Amino acid sequence: MAQYDVIIIGGGPGGYNAAIRAGQLGLKAACVEKGVTLGGTCLNVGCMPSKALLHASEMYDAAANHFAELGIEVKPKLNLVQMMAQKATSVAQLTKGIEFLFKKNKVDWIKGAGRIAGPGKVEVTGADGKSETHEARNIVIATGSEPSPLAGVEVDQKRIVDSTGALSLPEVPKSLLVIGAGIIGLELGSVWRRLGAQVTVVEFLDRITPGMDAEVAKTFQRSLTKQGIVFKLSSKVTGAKASKTGVKLTVEPVAGGAAETLEADYVLLAIGRRPYTEGLGLDTVGITPDKRGFIETDHWKTSAPGVWAIGDVTLGPMLAHKAEDEAVACIETLAGKAGHVSYGLIPSVVYTSPEVAWVGKTEEELKAEGRAYKVGKFPFTANSRAKINHETEGFAKVLADAVTDEVLGAHLIGPSVSEMIGEVCVAMEFRAASEDIGRTCHPHPTRSEALKQAAMGVEGWTTQA
Ligand code: FAD
Ligand code: NAI
Repeated sequence: MAQYDVIIIGGGPGGYNAAIRAGQLGLKAACVEKGVTLGGTCLNVGCMPSKALLHASEMYDAAANHFAELGIEVKPKLNLVQMMAQKATSVAQLTKGIEFLFKKNKVDWIKGAGRIAGPGKVEVTGADGKSETHEARNIVIATGSEPSPLAGVEVDQKRIVDSTGALSLPEVPKSLLVIGAGIIGLELGSVWRRLGAQVTVVEFLDRITPGMDAEVAKTFQRSLTKQGIVFKLSSKVTGAKASKTGVKLTVEPVAGGAAETLEADYVLLAIGRRPYTEGLGLDTVGITPDKRGFIETDHWKTSAPGVWAIGDVTLGPMLAHKAEDEAVACIETLAGKAGHVSYGLIPSVVYTSPEVAWVGKTEEELKAEGRAYKVGKFPFTANSRAKINHETEGFAKVLADAVTDEVLGAHLIGPSVSEMIGEVCVAMEFRAASEDIGRTCHPHPTRSEALKQAAMGVEGWTTQA
């Protein structure tokens, strides 16, 4: 008889939520995690520490540049050691919290690196080098992802850092070069810009944040530029040379032309992430990842019987909430229930200032599909709460089917939009029309009224702009 109903390899948002849901359903569950703490990329070196620094640096920037207009005169002094310490304390509390939840739900944490050793077998090697094999009726792979490398740019975590290094720089750089105008580059670039660094972002494409609605991306780029971030678009990095004091980066126009050398104290490489399956023993159960290294699944089942996969290691957006929803759905499915994830309704958020949040289709996607749609837009300059708070950058945009009025997407840039997008997710999950959002009473004065007014705008009955 198998020792466990399910062994989950990886203790990130995918793995820990799967383990906890398995425990709740009365399954005998274990989670194998090789890190010293649970929580994976998200809690240790991803979502949580980055949000801690985004929040702290936003407060610093507000105190330095925006308090005066509210009649509060202060001269903030940066204590980077304390800023990093409070980040570490919050992260430690969160990772300990997962340990507590494991105990509460009777999940075993098997410490060490897991390797599938054949059907139903997981060999775990601990930090002491000793291995033991555990048996399970089901194995869930939740091993996540790692930063993608770039030829010629060797990450040393001293001068050339990836996101992990950029979360713990020992000083505020005078200058920081970011490779990649994606979410990591812009979030962490914003952190160091607000703390005083000169930030230049080098991006291969002719736009920032691919995947974001183009109109929103343009407004976003304009706003970041106003904050002092310099963009070098349509540019490719061909090499980097680090010294003890800085880095020289060779950059060429994508269209061809003369190369130039950019110099900075530090370089952040943030050109995407790739699935992580090193040493996992996929071959022992006949799983071959796709060309980019992702494990292919059908309703979280891999090609090997009894082996499942969720989170960043599988196709789809590399987001913690996607991993979490897959975790619950996967465990419910393997327990004989009906697991479900609405893949078209996974929201995205960039936690900069202004924030950007969206769900559903962009205008570009709807055009490419040839779908007839209507647009409702409302600027935060016309939202009373944003106005009194002096946070009027951005707008809310709602896209709806031209015939049925079903909401097809929402694209928000502005204050606190990360907290607003969930409302659209619920509405879209229930296949709401724009009129449903427009006729739903929203509290006044809140920024969420901008979303309501944008929804009213789809049928042309916005009352406040
Ligand atoms: P991971 O969190 O990567 O966890 C995988 C775990 O598996 C790791 O702990 C690893 O040690 C362990 N592991 C791997 N192989 C083995 C093995 N063989 N044996 C044992 N253990 C193993 N997403 C958001 O939604 N919102 C955000 O704000 C956000 N911010 C981010 C900021 C940064 C800087 C980064 C890098 C990422 C951010 N993400 C964010 C993405 C998010 O972190 C990932 O999508 C999420 O962590 C994926 O969860 P996962 O469980 O699939 O994998
Ligand atoms: P990304 O995919 O968001 O952006 C990478 C950027 O680098 C793209 O704009 C791409 O065109 C560019 N690029 C690729 N190769 C390049 C090259 N050689 N030279 C210059 N530019 C190049 O990847 P990023 O920012 O590394 O983040 C990885 C993932 O982590 C995200 O896709 C997201 O899933 C997750 N994440 C989510 C966050 C959130 O939800 N707020 C925060 C941070 C990360």
